Amino acid sequence: MERVNLGKTEIKVSRICLGTWAWGGDKWWGRQQDRDSEEAFEAALARGINFIDTAPVYGFGRAEKILGRLLRQKREDVVLATKVGLRWQGGKITINLKRQSMQEELAISLQRLNTDYIDLYQVHWPDKDTPLEETAAVMGEFYERGVIKAVGVSNFSLSQMEEFMKYCPLHCLQPPYNMFRRDIEEDIIPFCRTHNIAIITYASLESGILSGKFFLGSSLPNDLNRRRNPNLKPPLFTINKKYIKKLKEVISGYPVSLAQLAIAWILHQAGITSAIVGCRNAYQAKENSMAADVSLPSSTWEKIGKILQQRAREISLLA
Ligand SMILES: NC(=O)c1ccc[n+]([C@@H]2O[C@H](COP(=O)([O-])OP(=O)(O)OC[C@H]3O[C@@H](n4cnc5c(N)ncnc54)[C@H](OP(=O)(O)O)[C@@H]3O)[C@@H](O)[C@H]2O)c1
Repeated sequence: MERVNLGKTEIKVSRICLGTWAWGGDKWWGRQQDRDSEEAFEAALARGINFIDTAPVYGFGRAEKILGRLLRQKREDVVLATKVGLRWQGGKITINLKRQSMQEELAISLQRLNTDYIDLYQVHWPDKDTPLEETAAVMGEFYERGVIKAVGVSNFSLSQMEEFMKYCPLHCLQPPYNMFRRDIEEDIIPFCRTHNIAIITYASLESGILSGKFFLGSSLPNDLNRRRNPNLKPPLFTINKKYIKKLKEVISGYPVSLAQLAIAWILHQAGITSAIVGCRNAYQAKENSMAADVSLPSSTWEKIGKILQQRAREISLLA
C-alpha cells in the first residue's frame, strides 16, 4: 500500500489507517470480541496498513489495552496515533484539556499501549473551559521532549487551529469527512493544504452506512452510534437509499464494493493524507484495505461526483 508523509513530518503513513473505536465494545458500537479485533489488526498489517488510530475513551481504556498487547512485538512496524482530552468517571465522559489532566492521560496511555512514545498525539475535542494556549503549550512540551513525534487536533474549526498554531507546531487534523459529509471542503481543506497539515478523515464509511448494507438488505443495527445517525432515519433514509443504488449501478462493471468506493473516493480528494476506517474483523480489514488499489476512469469519477451533487441538492431542498 502506498505510504505518504504525515504532513510536514518525516513519518510515513499508509493511506488507509485502521480505526479502533468499535474495539472498545461499548454501547456506541455494541459487543466486540477481542479475538476479532486482534484478527483485524493482523489482516490490516498483512495488507500494508502501518497506521492505527485509537483513543483512551474507546471502551474506557479497552481499545488501547488490546493494542498494547498487539504492539509488544510490532511497535516499530506501526505508526501509532492516540488522543487526549476525554476523561470518564462512572460512564460519564467529560472534556478536560488542562495541564495536569493531559500529563496524567499521557502517562496512562503509554502504560496501556505498552510503549514509551506516541507517533501522533491528538487533542480529541476542543475544551471550552481551558484556554487553547494552555493545551497547545502542553502539547508543545510533549513534542519537545520527544515523547510524541507529531502533534494533531481533531474536531477543530479553522479559527481554533489558527489559535493553536500560535503556541505549538501542528502536523495533523482529524475531521469527519466522507461522500455524505463534506463541510470541510470549503475552508478547512484549503487551509491545511496551504500549511502542509495532514488530514486524516474519520467516519470514512459514515459508521458503515456508506457500505450500503442497511439500504440493501441488512437489518438496522441497534447500537447507539447508528440509532442516532440521521442518515438512517426519515426523511434521509429514503433519499440515501436512492443514491446508494445509483452509486452501486455506476460501479457495477468494476470489482469494487460500495465500502471500497467510499474509501477510494476520500483518497481521490486533493489534500487528504489517509482515510481512517473502523474495522471490526479480518474480513472488513481486508476488504477496506483493498480500497487503496481502486482505480476508476475519470468519467466514472465524474458520474459519481454528479450523483453526490444531486443528493446534496435534494437534501438542501428539505431545509
Ligand atoms: N476523532 C474523533 O472524534 C473520532 C470520531 C469517530 C471515529 N474516530 C476514529 O475513526 C475511526 C473510523 O470511524 P468510525 O469507526 O466511526 O466509522 P467508519 O469507519 O465510518 O465505520 C466503521 C464501521 O463500519 C462497519 N464496516 C467497516 N467496514 C465495513 C465493510 N467493508 N462493509 C460493511 N461494513 C463495514 C463496521 O461496523 P459494523 O460491522 O458494526 O457495521 C465498522 O465498525 C474510528 O474507529 C476511530 O478510530 C474518531
